[in-house]
Amino acid sequence: MRCGVDVRRALAVLVLACACDAGDGASDDESESSGSESSGSESGGEVWMTLAERPCPEESMLSWESFGGPYVRSYCSSCHGSALPADMRQNAPLGLDFETIEQVRMHADRIWMRAADQNATMPPVGAPAQDERTLLGEWLACGAPTDAELGE
Ligand code: HEC
Repeated sequence: MRCGVDVRRALAVLVLACACDAGDGASDDESESSGSESSGSESGGEVWMTLAERPCPEESMLSWESFGGPYVRSYCSSCHGSALPADMRQNAPLGLDFETIEQVRMHADRIWMRAADQNATMPPVGAPAQDERTLLGEWLACGAPTDAELGE
């Protein structure tokens, strides 16, 4: 097991540890997910139940500037946009907007549940390709960093 450095990674490790304890701990296969539809075979068929379980790859270079910002502006803010009049939101909940990194971080768990990795219920139509959803999961799992934070 790798040593986590940030809180989210530590949390993910904790969750995995708990999941292992629940079983007999005989195998080190951490991708087991009982009860879920593990149809996705991307990245080795791993299916995570929550963002906290989703690991951040050590070498991840995705940032708000290079990935997260363009992603939500392409796929989300046409409905989840603060500047949109209420009747232009196509029923996206009022106040649930994804344009700034603060908004995205605040709702990271909910965004992941609907749009990242194996989750594909948002956007409702014109869904991004699986590889893009996988990248969204990666960026969120890494704490939705900015360029400046990646450079640290
Ligand atoms: C075509 C308009 C549209 C687009 C584009 C869209 N959404 Fe939505 N979104 C909705 C509607 C309508 C709802 C409320 C109904 C529902 O929850 O399915 C919603 C609800 C949500 C919720 C609330 C679920 C909850 O936790 O209560 C989240 C999170 C969400 N969207 C995320 C996203 C993300 C992330 C994107 C971009 C990848 C996105 N949406 C793109 C229309 C849209």
